[in-house]
Amino acid sequence: MTTDLRIKDFKRIVFFTGAGLSAESGIPTYRGQGGLWHEYDWETYACQKAFDRDPAAVWKFHNMRRAAVAACAPNQAHLAIARCEALLPDVTVVTQNIDGFHPLVGSRNLFELHGSLWRVRCDTCGAIKDNRDLPFEDLRCGKGWWRPDIVWFGDHLREDVIEGASKAISACDLLVSIGTSGVVYPAAQLPRLAQRAGAVTIEINPEPTPMSDAYEVCLRMGASEAMALLCQGLDV
Ligand code: OAD
Repeated sequence: MTTDLRIKDFKRIVFFTGAGLSAESGIPTYRGQGGLWHEYDWETYACQKAFDRDPAAVWKFHNMRRAAVAACAPNQAHLAIARCEALLPDVTVVTQNIDGFHPLVGSRNLFELHGSLWRVRCDTCGAIKDNRDLPFEDLRCGKGWWRPDIVWFGDHLREDVIEGASKAISACDLLVSIGTSGVVYPAAQLPRLAQRAGAVTIEINPEPTPMSDAYEVCLRMGASEAMALLCQGLDV
């Protein structure tokens, strides 16, 4: 399916992004063929229980992920999203991605629902700091441990982040979802807010998803190709 909808014709735009956006950068997605959770067990590497049991093993996994991301670069779709924010008055990015590619290319009006691989948080005092060490090895923070500041299985999303994202989505007139399977909650339900508010909704994903019915238009193509189409008429 194609479309004659164009981003330049909307006033309040939200991009809602997932791992498929960074797939074209060479970063594996979580599900589907070659997905991270097929190769690695989240109960061993991606939950607080696992960290309490063996922080070094969990950090080994996340240091591997840091190295994999550091070896890749943002792609044309990340750049097009950032360029939309630079050119248009009201553009918000709500991402499930932890790779840090949106901020890297200049997206500022950004909600990182699942945190960032490039921040650490003390599991005892709650302090948060940016950190880009490769590998991250200085694991102790006073009496606590530095853990990745990402949302693991069983963790809660930060309230201010989910609230800010929900507010932007409820007020948008265009929601463009890119590269998410729509199976991880509460993030997966956010596009419904745009649908309920009467916004135009577009899904970019080569495959149908359980959330496809929430979208008016489904572009069955990769992120960069679809963004090039939607950005026609903008100098991206
Ligand atoms: P998934 O791995 O679940 O889904 C990736 C989606 O991207 C799939 O629906 C693919 O069809 C699609 N896709 C693949 N290549 C694409 C391309 N070139 N262009 C557009 N789409 C493409 O990733 P998420 O939905 O992001 O949580 O996963 C949600 C959360 O589950 C992640 O944030 C992560 C994971 O557990 C945490 O790490 C906390």
